[in-house]
Amino acid sequence: MKINTQLVSESQNQEKALPSILYTSEAIFEVERQDIFRATWQYVGLTSQVQNPGDFFTTRLGHIPIIILRDEQGLLAAFINVCPHRGSELILAASGQRKTLQCHYHAWTFSLNGKLKAAPCAKEQACFDASLYTLTPIAVDSLGPLLFVNPTSTAESLRTFLGELPDILQEFGVDLSVLTPRGRQSYEMATNWKIIVENYLECYHCAVAHPRFSQAVDLNQYEVIPYRNFSMQRGPIKAGSKELAATHGLQDSLYFYIFPNLMLNFYPGAGSLSLNLILPIDTHRSLAVYEFLFAESVPDEDTESLIRLIDEVQKEDIVLCESVHRGMLSGFYQPGPLMLSREKGLAHFHQRYVGGE
Ligand code: FES
Ligand SMILES: [Fe+2]
Repeated sequence: MKINTQLVSESQNQEKALPSILYTSEAIFEVERQDIFRATWQYVGLTSQVQNPGDFFTTRLGHIPIIILRDEQGLLAAFINVCPHRGSELILAASGQRKTLQCHYHAWTFSLNGKLKAAPCAKEQACFDASLYTLTPIAVDSLGPLLFVNPTSTAESLRTFLGELPDILQEFGVDLSVLTPRGRQSYEMATNWKIIVENYLECYHCAVAHPRFSQAVDLNQYEVIPYRNFSMQRGPIKAGSKELAATHGLQDSLYFYIFPNLMLNFYPGAGSLSLNLILPIDTHRSLAVYEFLFAESVPDEDTESLIRLIDEVQKEDIVLCESVHRGMLSGFYQPGPLMLSREKGLAHFHQRYVGGE
């Protein structure tokens, strides 16, 4: 990210919050679209959505429409969902099963490998060379049941991007392969996407804003560990807590923030994952998509009580994030100091956001 800002106040030698313009400027939002959301691995869905050859689903990375599918050989593939003829989105359906991909505008038809197979009336056109028109492929890969894509053709592999993350999950006994989806919830929020990320990255506000959550997690033992493209927060569950004892096993709750917009939350037990995807709508609005995955063995009443608690915490966070956004719009906010014993996760995010790699 080539945004030039001073992260450390020279007079006090102290890490600061970001300037308000980074949350309110349309020009900055456009730079983020190009430099972050067009150039980074991002979570798009679950492998169960493309289980069999021909299965596909469509989604968007910001303003980029994409299609993810499983080809005839059973391999994952992803393409920009834009037709090379006149630029319409190729497929409008959200999901389905197809042997070919046919554009809904003039019926150009592509194989699942992105090559043009047929175009109506092509014979009437002298020198029409179908091999010149292919769908634009993009990188796609998975971590357990989680699918990621990256629109950059020169992308580093997902494995390299995620670094130590898979090993850390294994070390804590988290088995992603046993998890299947059991719930989904979306929240539109009147706030810039970075305010939601920053709010997630600290539990300094938990004691004040999340009374029920704070009864369950020992906030004084809460730690934040930064890595290259992600950071991990670890909060030990208080002995005897009923709130987060639903899925048993893990002693701690683990929270991973993966740059730029994904959070993976593991509550006690290898049997649960709550996932938050933060989708920027525009400078002032974002969509937070929550997905809940559980192991088969976790009973419905436990999944429901965890989902209820997360929904309660999310509603408390919406009030905070929208309030910060209004503060940023006031024109009177000067970046305040980060309380590093509690807000170290923000310093890591700012470094990654401003400094790029
Ligand atoms: S725009 Fe797709 S076939 Fe014409
Ligand atoms: Fe919160």
